[in-house]
Amino acid sequence: MELIQRPRRLRGNMALRNMVRETRISKSSLIYPLFVREGANIAEEIATMPGQYRYSVDRLPEITERLLRAGVDKLMLFGIPDHKDELASGAYQDDGIVQKALLKLKKDFPDMYCITDVCLCEYTSHGHCGVLHGHDVDNDKTLPLLAKTALSHVQAGADMVAPSDMMDGRVGAIRALLDREGQTVIPIMSYSVKYSSAFYGPFRDAAGSAPAFGDRKGYQMDYHNKKEALKEALLDLTEGADILMVKPALSYMDVIHTVAEATNVPLAAYSVSGEYSMIKAGAQAGYIDEAAVVCETAASIFRAGANMLLTYYAPEIAGFITEGR
Ligand code: PBG
Ligand code: ZN
Repeated sequence: MELIQRPRRLRGNMALRNMVRETRISKSSLIYPLFVREGANIAEEIATMPGQYRYSVDRLPEITERLLRAGVDKLMLFGIPDHKDELASGAYQDDGIVQKALLKLKKDFPDMYCITDVCLCEYTSHGHCGVLHGHDVDNDKTLPLLAKTALSHVQAGADMVAPSDMMDGRVGAIRALLDREGQTVIPIMSYSVKYSSAFYGPFRDAAGSAPAFGDRKGYQMDYHNKKEALKEALLDLTEGADILMVKPALSYMDVIHTVAEATNVPLAAYSVSGEYSMIKAGAQAGYIDEAAVVCETAASIFRAGANMLLTYYAPEIAGFITEGR
């Protein structure tokens, strides 16, 4: 056979395959989502996310040390308060759960880069991401509370804030308050393109943040839409976002690609709880090879155009990078 092109020539052995590899993952681009709760001496496994835990503040060192040993030095913090009310007051209290976790983390682990999820759903009695007006989330009344929450995270030591509520104008509101308070160097990672997704199911169980009535379709995006993804992304840039995010990841590869091509800022992708739990369940049932599927899905998200990845598998992926997989 006279074949001029034989693509297989570049697949002959691992050294060669590694040399021509187009997508390389670096540990520095991994961010681990971490749940912190009230109480003492608690590390409780999340029923819908085997292998993931809610930690009390005093037990944060064990997971933080494990992450740093693996080479993961970035966290996204989620708080699970004891007390919830209509105005989500636990979100912006000086001694709120995220604030206490930040004080501990930044004191004991100054090298751990701490990003905080800024939303109200874990703190409202009704579980919606903002304050209510009747059965509707009141956008403009929610904005000052989100900004207050972000500022209080920064004052407790957060290195970056990440609003995930999907209210209109929240990036601008947060930027304005941070700047007014002299926090001009703190970057904002906006969950700009956040779809209303059934893949958040396990998270809501983990954080106890499922809405008591209705759903989040009035503020999170409709998964049939892609033009709207660009609208949201570009709006957030005009409001001062430094990093954009697409969420979830696996069912939204086209969106990751489109947003990456159309914008000139770093792009994060969030491989959410349901993506983690699907792989975990498949692996536990013996249907798939967990390590292989984790490597393949992570690479595909970067290949689509993401520059960083939020994933519950961050320490495992870091381990695979060390092994040279
Ligand atoms: C808070 C928030 C959610 C997630 C991140 N921030 C839940 C939601 O919007 O219902 C989901 C993360 C995951 O599923 O892993 N608004
Ligand atoms: Zn929320």
